[in-house]
Amino acid sequence: MTRVGILLSGRGSNMRALVEQARGYEVALIASDKPEAAGIAWARERGLPTFALSPKGIGKAAFEAEIDRALREAGVEVIALAGYMRLLSDDFVARWRGRIVNIHPSLLPRYKGLDTHARAIAAGDAVAGCSVHLVTEELDGGAVLGQAQVPVLPDDTPETLAERVLAEEHRLYPRVLSEFTMTPLDRLRTLAAALPEVEERPSHG
Ligand code: GAR
Repeated sequence: MTRVGILLSGRGSNMRALVEQARGYEVALIASDKPEAAGIAWARERGLPTFALSPKGIGKAAFEAEIDRALREAGVEVIALAGYMRLLSDDFVARWRGRIVNIHPSLLPRYKGLDTHARAIAAGDAVAGCSVHLVTEELDGGAVLGQAQVPVLPDDTPETLAERVLAEEHRLYPRVLSEFTMTPLDRLRTLAAALPEVEERPSHG
């Protein structure tokens, strides 16, 4: 099973969804740049492996080297960003190329960056949503692996819209990560399990 490392900075509700709905992958480490993050407290209470380190005082390069070391020591193969609010350096992205995914609260390529819900409402969009995408050097710019949509309602505020989108994030992210991490053998097994039973018939001649 693919070993996944989750990076978060805050509440960690997407991390919880990834832990609770893990299928085809296992969560090998939950790491944070905010030692006081609620998501880290939740993971610790459950006895899940965690690593928390603030970059304050040590600088970005040393901080990322420590995160990288912790991920490799835990045998992590794929990194899932879940509300990780710090930009990864080009070097870090290059070292994990094609193996970092992120969830972003908009229908990419619309609204890269912050304040996605306020921007969708201000633009008068009828639908909003979330995207899981590959992480590249370009902010929120890598290939989209999956999306989910919700309607924008006439009296929505950024908060009410965020809540509706977040519920979809919790369904979308575990599903897309399962598909992304599935090995060819896992894929065959899933297909075989979905096939109807074929009765053995005696062959003639
Ligand atoms: C989520 O809505 C996630 O999509 C967003 O932060 C929130 C984290 O919530 N991520 C970004 O904006 C990344 N650019 P969570 O900590 O409860 O998962």
